[in-house]
Amino acid sequence: MIKGVVFDLDGVITDTAEFHYLAWKELGEKIGIPFDRAFNENLKGISRMDSLERILELGNKQNHYSQEEKEALAHEKNEQYKELIKQITPSDILPGISTFIEDCKSKQLKLALASASKNGPAILESLGLKEEFGTIVDPASLAKGKPDPEIFIKGAELLGLKAEECIGVEDAEAGIAAVNAAGMFSVGVGNAESMKAADLFVEHTADLNLEAILQAVNNK
Ligand code: G6P
Ligand code: MG
Repeated sequence: MIKGVVFDLDGVITDTAEFHYLAWKELGEKIGIPFDRAFNENLKGISRMDSLERILELGNKQNHYSQEEKEALAHEKNEQYKELIKQITPSDILPGISTFIEDCKSKQLKLALASASKNGPAILESLGLKEEFGTIVDPASLAKGKPDPEIFIKGAELLGLKAEECIGVEDAEAGIAAVNAAGMFSVGVGNAESMKAADLFVEHTADLNLEAILQAVNNK
């Protein structure tokens, strides 16, 4: 029986996936590694330093920078990102998400946040969703990032639930892989191609329907 829902943040609750893209794109162009949205799909759900590594690999520049320089580049991206997220207000909650959260609460489902983002708590605050998410996995406490299941396993643990009792909602390929490996029912938001490993997917957050999801869990 489903007793909890573990949410990704960026691209699920709010469209910060776009801000991450814009901030990385600016840094990429500055260091001579331009990339497009298709490549950006590979960065979704991936930690800040791992994202930088992937970009450097794309430009064959992994060995061009010292660890210290890489940290400075990641810091620069984060400063730009923090500028962009300053504009976030509750009106930036993606369509359908507030209703979906309300539906979860009225079914007594417990909610947790499993985002790789260290900016997650500040974003929840700007969205006015801090109360809803009393349970947040601290990404700094993790040994491995998505697609490793650790973050979702921790999310379930913090809720006092088994992974099988939870649904994981994600927009990243790496995130769906992590939810599946944790043993949760995976719900994807995005296009059919990138969400092909999800147990159930919808194209837009507005299409998330708790009844339909619970039905699909029962039919699995
Ligand atoms: C999420 C996003 C990634 C981002 C990561 C770390 O998983 O999908 O694009 O790189 O968080 O975010 P941070 O805010 O800590 O740089
Ligand atoms: Mg995401």
